Amino acid sequence: MFFRLPAKKQVVLCGLVFFVGLAISANAAVAAGPELTRGPYLQSATPESIVVVWRTNSPAAPSVKIGKSVAALNRQIVGGSIQLLVSADVQAPKYITRLYKEPKADAAKRAADDESPSTVPSTYQYEARIQGLEPATRYYYSVYAGKKLLAGADKHHYFVTSPSQGTDADLRIWVVGDSGTGEQDQKEVHLAMQEFTQESKRDLDLYLHVGDMAYVEGTDKQFQNNFFDIYQTTLRNKVCWPSMGNHEGKTSRGTSGTGPYYDAYVVPTAAEAGGLPSGTEAYYSFDIADVHFVCLDSHDLDRTPSGAMAQWLIADLEETQQEWLIAFWHHPPYTKGSHDSDAERQLIEMRTHFMPILESCGVDIVLSGHSHIYERSMLIDGAYATPTVAEGVVVDDGDGNPDHDGAYRKSQGLNPNEGTVAIVAGNGGAGLTRRGTMPIMREILVEHGSVILDIRGDTLTGTMVNKNNVERDVFSIVKRGKVEVTHLEKPWQPPNDPSLLTVFVLAWQDEALGQLPKNWSLAQGPDESVVVQQVSEEQKKLLAVKAGEKSVIATYDNFDDLMSEIRTEISLSTDAVAGVVFAHQNEQNYYAYRFNAKTATAELVRYHEGEAEVLDSREVEIDFSEQVKVEIETRKNIFKFQLNNQVEYDVKLDQPLPEGKFGILVGENSAASYEYLAIRRGLP
Ligand SMILES: [Fe+2]
Repeated sequence: MFFRLPAKKQVVLCGLVFFVGLAISANAAVAAGPELTRGPYLQSATPESIVVVWRTNSPAAPSVKIGKSVAALNRQIVGGSIQLLVSADVQAPKYITRLYKEPKADAAKRAADDESPSTVPSTYQYEARIQGLEPATRYYYSVYAGKKLLAGADKHHYFVTSPSQGTDADLRIWVVGDSGTGEQDQKEVHLAMQEFTQESKRDLDLYLHVGDMAYVEGTDKQFQNNFFDIYQTTLRNKVCWPSMGNHEGKTSRGTSGTGPYYDAYVVPTAAEAGGLPSGTEAYYSFDIADVHFVCLDSHDLDRTPSGAMAQWLIADLEETQQEWLIAFWHHPPYTKGSHDSDAERQLIEMRTHFMPILESCGVDIVLSGHSHIYERSMLIDGAYATPTVAEGVVVDDGDGNPDHDGAYRKSQGLNPNEGTVAIVAGNGGAGLTRRGTMPIMREILVEHGSVILDIRGDTLTGTMVNKNNVERDVFSIVKRGKVEVTHLEKPWQPPNDPSLLTVFVLAWQDEALGQLPKNWSLAQGPDESVVVQQVSEEQKKLLAVKAGEKSVIATYDNFDDLMSEIRTEISLSTDAVAGVVFAHQNEQNYYAYRFNAKTATAELVRYHEGEAEVLDSREVEIDFSEQVKVEIETRKNIFKFQLNNQVEYDVKLDQPLPEGKFGILVGENSAASYEYLAIRRGLP
């Protein structure tokens, strides 16, 4: 838990604030006057209050001015309602809260070239809690250091207080996840949302981030570069209500409420915005109009049903009298994107321990990220089993689109087990992956984008807007009257077409012995030179290849595309030549990466119209009597090779890799076997 004590010893004198006992460290920034280094941004809105947060690089007497028009910022906030936090290097009295400094033990473990997660030196963070506001009212604001205007006093800096609790909702909510790369896709997703709201003439009211907002380690600097710098034009007007991702979890701790994540956010811990006090910023609830929001920590807190978070959730939900219930956290209960909810612990636990609580309390929408994909479920209830199946857990298998199959229907208010729509919005910026088909999903899109939720009275509409500002999925839930719920025995299923996947993991466990696996073809070589074979002692099967006088090539049929990654494990006979082929268009045109076990050589060869060109050949220090683990990654024209996690090297190509199939290759009079083959589709 992170206590923020008001800077008690500030003395208000003639409208100026002096920091008593706060030693001002002399540095260049002082001479130039304090500069704004973060924000201003908004936090913890209620109908009567809001928190304005900003940072400077030297101390200043902070103040905020607000008013109902830019020309009349006639209320000034100073003194004890502005909390000061300082970086570790700043000399300040003990009662001033410190921003994050990495503990010595952790710093010692960190590689010297790693970025420090600590707050940059000479940082002053101000958190101004402005009270006594009118509900659902727009206020303009400005932020000062002494007499120096840092930001605002213009039409771009405003906030709107929340509508009173219990009033009919008229809200627009932006939902983003896994965005914090600082790269182009993240910026385009943000821009597309801004265009969408402008074109539809309806601004956002709030912003929910479902985690992984500051890759790779959630350091203070990564927060600045990959979150605040990118979203500032939104953050200065809308409150971002956060949930912590595993990447923030590399430097921030839910148990102690410390780290750059907890420094950045001010969220309710004592029911300041409705709900029940959680006593921690790691999980919390709040009300806006007639919507109850719940944020959970799926990363580093106890996820058991008897744990503090689950017990708080039960108590919180029992209390709420709201019409709508939206829950959000990072690790998705249902996904087959870059993560698999049938196989990963946090995801399984959130599904089996938290979904029953939420659904028994009538949850309408469950939002998550982590998995870099957009997946949106049908109207489901009771999908707690592992693996997730659709049979008996879908209450409406339509698309929920009011212009197509029709909106999902639920009874008015919060009623147990009438159906939930689960959304994975991990498509906010990070590289996308689809590894399978989650059977309860209605829409699965491997596209960057974000979700807009509109709640108006008894209707909630969800829209996935991709990074090109195209509406790619629309569904509605209408809550009216009394609805009878039926669980469908055999609901609709999303197509499980392998060509839709971005990652293929090919194993042979279910294949017939002595045959070429299904969906494979021999491109070169005699029949039965490639067969599935049982390894005698263990239960596993291998793909065994034995070539005679001619070399053998077999390719996987269900992939004819741009690959970005191949992984495999190969066992070679002592003098064998064997490897993989990729970008295989036909027998005349393909690439091969192969080992010669006898000479301990690795070769990258391009075949063009039947002519071989050796692009790279080198001796590699690998024990070829053992299985060789191969990873090949392509980034534009750079090939990255990694063997047994030991040997690593890059090869630059003079032209981009073309599309094509991938497969295996075994040279003449050689034998090799393959444990598995995995390929990642290259995304545009
Ligand atoms: Fe994640």
